[in-house]
Amino acid sequence: MARSKIGLVGAGQIGGTLAHLVGLKELGDVVLFDIVDGVPQGKSLDLAQSSPVDGWNAKLKGTSSYEDLEGADVVIVTAGVPRKPGMSRDDLIGTNLKVMEQVGAGIAKYAPDAFVICITNPLDAMVWALQTASGLPAEKVVGMAGVLDSSRFRYFLADEFNVSVEDVTAFVLGGHGDTMVPLPRYSTVAGVPLPDLVKMGWTSQEKLDQIIQRTRDGGAEIVGLLKTGSAFYAPAASAVAMAESYLKDKKRVLPCAAYLSGQYGVDGIYVGVPVVIGAGGVERIVEIELDAAEKAGFDKSVESVKGLIAACKTIAPNLG
Ligand code: APR
Repeated sequence: MARSKIGLVGAGQIGGTLAHLVGLKELGDVVLFDIVDGVPQGKSLDLAQSSPVDGWNAKLKGTSSYEDLEGADVVIVTAGVPRKPGMSRDDLIGTNLKVMEQVGAGIAKYAPDAFVICITNPLDAMVWALQTASGLPAEKVVGMAGVLDSSRFRYFLADEFNVSVEDVTAFVLGGHGDTMVPLPRYSTVAGVPLPDLVKMGWTSQEKLDQIIQRTRDGGAEIVGLLKTGSAFYAPAASAVAMAESYLKDKKRVLPCAAYLSGQYGVDGIYVGVPVVIGAGGVERIVEIELDAAEKAGFDKSVESVKGLIAACKTIAPNLG
């Protein structure tokens, strides 16, 4: 069987890491695209030269031509600018919206059957813009945020409890931003929900609240440390998990920014919810019961995403 073809639009920090992970996991051949000539070519060659050492087989091609995305099975988009210290994800909207329009047109022309994963921030608005600009079916265009946010939550919890990260599950809903909604009731250690672990004395409510806040601020913490850009290892790993679920029809249940058409009382926007990802793309949106506080947090997050999309429509009325 021919290898899958994976297009990576944006060959910066996340794009390069994606290419490396796709190679190491042998998910398929890679086309690494960027508007800066030389960077995708150089990174592809460097990565290809690591493959004999690590023993993986894939073709890697660096390019500045959309034509090379022809027939891609998966396209992961990181094109755009990352934030610098003091910036919020929302500050990137003007620049990255234009990029999404260009990239959406390129995908529509050369890879209309691809499963598209958007990483560019502000995520919930950019994935909406990418889907609108590309005209691809909504179930084939999804945003990466929840896997990353829940992974950050899982890591902090595993560290607090001194248990394996593998045994911690965590649930995060809503937009990828300050209004994200980590859900302790649906987050567990080996099936034991966090509120029970507080009762069992594994941690205090105060400490749990601190971890939740650190999760919300997870991206900003890294931006503050790096100073020249934003996180890239964990975002890349998260998108690769989503791509793998699609390519292998694993039907994993992953929190993603998905297009809602009535679920959770929301219509016509992208927001973070649990979904099943399989060969059909987003095959199912999982609607869980929210209590009053969780619902209030989710609604606030939805309002903030709506505000960002309204700003996009003002900047680019043709996307309306
Ligand atoms: N088409 C293709 N590539 C583009 C375009 C465009 N129109 N505009 C910019 N790029 C490329 C840049 O040349 C750069 O190589 O996108 C790449 C972005 O890489 P980085 O600046 O290293 O950013 P990165 O850390 O990878 O983050 C990318 O993901 O998490 C989000 O907030 C983050 O929006 C940012 C994106």
